[in-house]
Amino acid sequence: MIQFDVLTLFPLIFDGFLSESILKNAIESGKLSVQLHNMRNWATDKHSTMDDRPFGGGPGMVLKVDCVVPCVESVRGGCGVAGRLIMLSPQGRKFDQRLAESFAVEERLILLCGRYEGFDERVVELLEPEEVSIGDYVLNGGEVAAMVLIEAVMRLLPGALGDCDSNRLDSFSSGNRLLDCAQYTRPREYRGLNVPETLLNGNHAEIEKWRNENSLQRTKLRRPDLLN
Ligand code: ADE
Repeated sequence: MIQFDVLTLFPLIFDGFLSESILKNAIESGKLSVQLHNMRNWATDKHSTMDDRPFGGGPGMVLKVDCVVPCVESVRGGCGVAGRLIMLSPQGRKFDQRLAESFAVEERLILLCGRYEGFDERVVELLEPEEVSIGDYVLNGGEVAAMVLIEAVMRLLPGALGDCDSNRLDSFSSGNRLLDCAQYTRPREYRGLNVPETLLNGNHAEIEKWRNENSLQRTKLRRPDLLN
């Protein structure tokens, strides 16, 4: 069981994500829990202001240190385990399968989602979160990045997926540095395109060999960097 605490200004973004399909089942069967915390509840004025203009000028708004730090401290203190504090930010370490694997063995992950121009830098100085980016592009905020992280981590939890092998064989997992092979299902022929003969003949050794070769070819072509 792993507990995610998500600190966000927009908790409703997570509604559909948490209430459908594999994630819903994993939550219902107790493999993980996700607690959403609206950071606005820690605003200090009557307008619930969480952000302010940057010192020195410039566009956008900055999330206020005197709201965010008490919010994190309060959420952290709300449970016996302090947990690993992760700030989603385009300035962070690039998220990958290895980092997901290291998160999947934790008891508690606290995910801090930024918005606007980001957090006052003193949030980072005081709380020393691990900053994590899901890629070299800029999103409107950390929420989608937090969902990416939650989904990648939950796939690694024992028993969270129906088929116990399906995560071990995922591309990028420690035991596998190749892209997945091509997959086909019925019909055998569609608009003149046929399913490779080998996959139809029931010879499992040959099928396994075809799949390994297909994986290797695709990796060479699309992601040669993975082979180095
Ligand atoms: N917030 C905005 N852009 C992001 C990114 N690429 N990764 C993580 N958090 C973000």
